[in-house]
Amino acid sequence: MTTVERRFPEQRPDALFVPEMATIKGAANLTAQDRLFDIELPGGKNLGHKPGQFVEVSMYGFGEAPISVSSSPAQDGSFELCVRKLGGLTGKLHTLGEGDAVGIRGPFGNGFPMEDFEGTDCLIVAGGIGMAPLRSVVNTILADRDKYGRMMLLYGNRNPDDILFKDELKAWAEDDRNQILVTIDRPAEGWAGNVGVVTTLFEQIALDPSRRVVAAVVGPPVMYRFVYAELTMKHIPDDHIYFSLERRMKCGVGKCGHCQIEGKYVCIDGPVFTGAELGQFRESI
Ligand SMILES: Cc1cc2nc3c(=O)[nH]c(=O)nc-3n(C[C@H](O)[C@H](O)[C@H](O)COP(=O)(O)OP(=O)(O)OC[C@H]3O[C@@H](n4cnc5c(N)ncnc54)[C@H](O)[C@@H]3O)c2cc1C
Ligand code: FES
Repeated sequence: MTTVERRFPEQRPDALFVPEMATIKGAANLTAQDRLFDIELPGGKNLGHKPGQFVEVSMYGFGEAPISVSSSPAQDGSFELCVRKLGGLTGKLHTLGEGDAVGIRGPFGNGFPMEDFEGTDCLIVAGGIGMAPLRSVVNTILADRDKYGRMMLLYGNRNPDDILFKDELKAWAEDDRNQILVTIDRPAEGWAGNVGVVTTLFEQIALDPSRRVVAAVVGPPVMYRFVYAELTMKHIPDDHIYFSLERRMKCGVGKCGHCQIEGKYVCIDGPVFTGAELGQFRESI
């Protein structure tokens, strides 16, 4: 057994390196640059992922890219990926629809330790496309709502047209136990909500000091320093804060070294790190 196989004992060894051809069951544009895909593995088997894990998505001639799983593990028979159009592969993926095939390896990475969120108030901070993996966290909480305390979602975007999963945000807000706050960076015509970066939403949440709070954060690296400062001011300890990092990746399984940062491989040691771990490579992000 190779080192990689030992790291992923639950995976078939060939799925670590060889993509399985999966079928797109459905696809829809969420914004001008984001497309949501519902994907089925051969035989309709479950992906078996944890929130915060990613898959390597490939197309012959266009390459391979890590994309976070956006659906909850509770979804049966298929899983969802939200892909932002950026370059060669993601641009090509945006031309695909129902019935088309893509290669899938994974799921990879450590994911969020959801057991740590049970029985606690959950503070979720999303920036831009960071909402894609965090939607999996949110839907895991909602699928077993009584296991968790309050859920507070702070979600920032550049402008209103970039906001992902708008209908779901509204539906999540209908439950009193959920507080859903959305902001955009600059004023925009027709937007009556909060204006300012995501950290401006922190003043709108009141944490109960008698309750444990665990935070999950995904967004652009520039956001992390400021969000970390706010979480610290709210007295959330470093080991209750989970950040997901995005690095350039190739293999996704700890072999090529592309994602290395201060001696850690983001693909297998992460992408989710605690605030304490993040402190060790703060200079690098
Ligand atoms: C763990 C992880 C999870 C991710 N989850 C998602 C997701 O859920 N949805 C999604 O849309 N994207 C996600 N990404 C980013 C996605 O992998 C890249 O957008 C994709 O690789 C771009 O491939 P491409 O061939 O289209 O672009 P390329 O042609 O390779 O690149 C286009 C441009 O983007 C830059 N670029 C590409 N990848 C990155 C990167 N990782 N960081 C910074 N700059 C980059 C390149 O330098 C280039 O300028 C994730 C990345 C990681 C590491
Ligand atoms: S992507 Fe190859 S080691 Fe992480």
